[in-house]
Amino acid sequence: MHLPDFKVARTSNKIEYKKIRYNIEDKYKNKYKDKLCYLRTYGCQMNEHDSENIKGILEELGYGFTDDMDKADLIVLNTCSIRENAHNKAFGLLGRIKHLKETKKDLKVGLCGCMAQEEIVVNTIINKYPFVNFVIGTHNFYELPLILEKNEEENKQQVEVYSREGDLIEDMPIDRASKHKAYVNIIYGCDKFCTYCIVPYTRGRQRSREKEDILKEIDNLIKDGYKEVTLLGQNVNAYGKDLYSDYSLAELLEDVAKTNIPRIRFMTSHPWDFNDKMIEVIAKYKNIMPSIHLPVQSGSNRILKLMGRRYTKESYLTLFSKMKELIPNCAISTDIIVGFPGEEEEDFKETLDLVNTCKYDNAYTFIYSPRVGTPASRLKDDISKEEKENRLYKLNDTVNKYFKENNLKLVGKKIPVLVDGISDKKNEYFGYSDTNKLVNFTGDNIEIGSIVDVLITDAKTWSLDGKVSE
Ligand code: 5AD
Ligand code: SF4
Repeated sequence: MHLPDFKVARTSNKIEYKKIRYNIEDKYKNKYKDKLCYLRTYGCQMNEHDSENIKGILEELGYGFTDDMDKADLIVLNTCSIRENAHNKAFGLLGRIKHLKETKKDLKVGLCGCMAQEEIVVNTIINKYPFVNFVIGTHNFYELPLILEKNEEENKQQVEVYSREGDLIEDMPIDRASKHKAYVNIIYGCDKFCTYCIVPYTRGRQRSREKEDILKEIDNLIKDGYKEVTLLGQNVNAYGKDLYSDYSLAELLEDVAKTNIPRIRFMTSHPWDFNDKMIEVIAKYKNIMPSIHLPVQSGSNRILKLMGRRYTKESYLTLFSKMKELIPNCAISTDIIVGFPGEEEEDFKETLDLVNTCKYDNAYTFIYSPRVGTPASRLKDDISKEEKENRLYKLNDTVNKYFKENNLKLVGKKIPVLVDGISDKKNEYFGYSDTNKLVNFTGDNIEIGSIVDVLITDAKTWSLDGKVSE
């Protein structure tokens, strides 16, 4: 048994990890032929991508997949820790599974992902959820075949979670959710330790993948007909810092652009690590999409300092203006937290002012959620729930106004859209524009996975309507 420990996660200064090529012994292959798995994913793109690997691993073991929990022989929850409601959802589902397990004794249940890295969660599972067969952390989910085997052999709950960052595993099996858009990890973990954020504890210190491995993966995706890659990391702008002295996200983006894959995206960016060279490269290559997710979190310098964000409102705005000026047609989205401990009406007003200046194309807004073990969770939080909700409501009202305003500017224009699928309505397709806007459009015999020019006919707050013109 290996239990998580935040103290170890926080103090692991010296990063030691190896690169390992995934290799599964033949004895595991098809061991669970004809068995079905229900895999439920919560949280961010990183988790969605991990689930694609978990699916790939389980398929090698012989598992098929079902959307019907009642039919499953194995249930795996890939969980998220970022806010309290993510916890509640996973524990809610575990409650339902408990009943299922009472009637289906052979059902296996596993919890993995970020919640598995939290001491408080693992202790709760051990004490209150004995029916959970295994808990496996973010650093070692590739050990799934071994842990399933151990659970069977020993017939007891397995808890295998490491607090230190894990090895980098290359060549893991994968079953991607899309046949034309792919996530590609470039960096794992985060070293920023923003005071409210649990990610550096659940995902470990930052570790970049070697550029050769990334480029090889992208070459293979191109051969398989993929049109878009999203380079993924908690802070992609720190790419390479732990590996190279002269190779950063700018150089990587340039090398990926030269593969000629039609569309390149990247997320998430931290303003602190965004340099001019990166902006130049994004501006230079047409296949790097003019769409940047640049979380600001707050418009008040006092709150930004308490959050440990390492930039000021002024330096953020300088970076923002540079992007808008140098990258043609650049759409910028953001994340904002309201109700951080000590946030006063004046601080919140500064956030609204910043939104009124930046007029974001998209924004994800959250009420601060204290996470056990983070420095902010020890700050006095005396803003009432009503006040927090009130601020969120006002903020949403303001950001929504700009989404619509920006969308309206596109009416009458032709924009390129990567076609994702057909919607329920006849002859209606949907996809995303270069600036990452959802577009619903009409047309005839359009190929899924192709990039088409769509004439925009109407704008809504969260989407655009259009038609494919001759
Ligand atoms: N409470 C609320 N929002 C949070 N985020 C991260 N941690 C917390 C928290 N404790 C938000 C940040 C981040 C996004 C992924 O989630 O805005 O950018
Ligand atoms: Fe969390 Fe992002 Fe800050 Fe890293 S940079 S600690 S992932 S909010």
